[in-house]
Amino acid sequence: MSEQQTAYALLGGEQPLQRIVARFYAQMSAEPRFAALRHTHAGPLDRAEQRLFMFLSGRLGGPDLYIEAFGHPRLRMRHLPFAIGPTERDQWVQCMDEAMRAEGVEEALRAALTEFFTAVAAQMQNREA
Ligand code: HEM
Repeated sequence: MSEQQTAYALLGGEQPLQRIVARFYAQMSAEPRFAALRHTHAGPLDRAEQRLFMFLSGRLGGPDLYIEAFGHPRLRMRHLPFAIGPTERDQWVQCMDEAMRAEGVEEALRAALTEFFTAVAAQMQNREA
């Protein structure tokens, strides 16, 4: 693995990332064990899906689509309207980990990304329980 390679490149670029994000939201809707997470998302998921893809594209080292379109992500602030406790936080990370497994993301890369998502999700938590 070259140090130059970004997570975006290692995933395979735009289409694999889009598939992971699509699967993340599809699972969130379909699986009862992600019900608390789904409940925080009031409306249809297309907007969230599009924005998460755009954000991750830039954050993982690909085109900075989110910042070009919407400016600084201010992620924690943007999540304040939603009640995010430990349950929602953990379901997010679990749902994303399963989406990456289902899309065949290589083991070491998946583990590194899950570590990253765990840290970001912890920052989004805005209530104790
Ligand atoms: C910790 C649990 C999390 C919950 C419950 C949660 C929930 C939500 C909800 C309800 C929205 C609004 C969707 C909409 O406007 O239709 C949203 C937006 C978003 N989330 Fe999360 N999220 C979580 C963690 C994360 C993490 C870990 C990331 C990034 C790695 C992330 C990235 C985003 C982005 C980029 C948006 C779009 C923001 C915008 O432009 O409005 N979220 N999230």
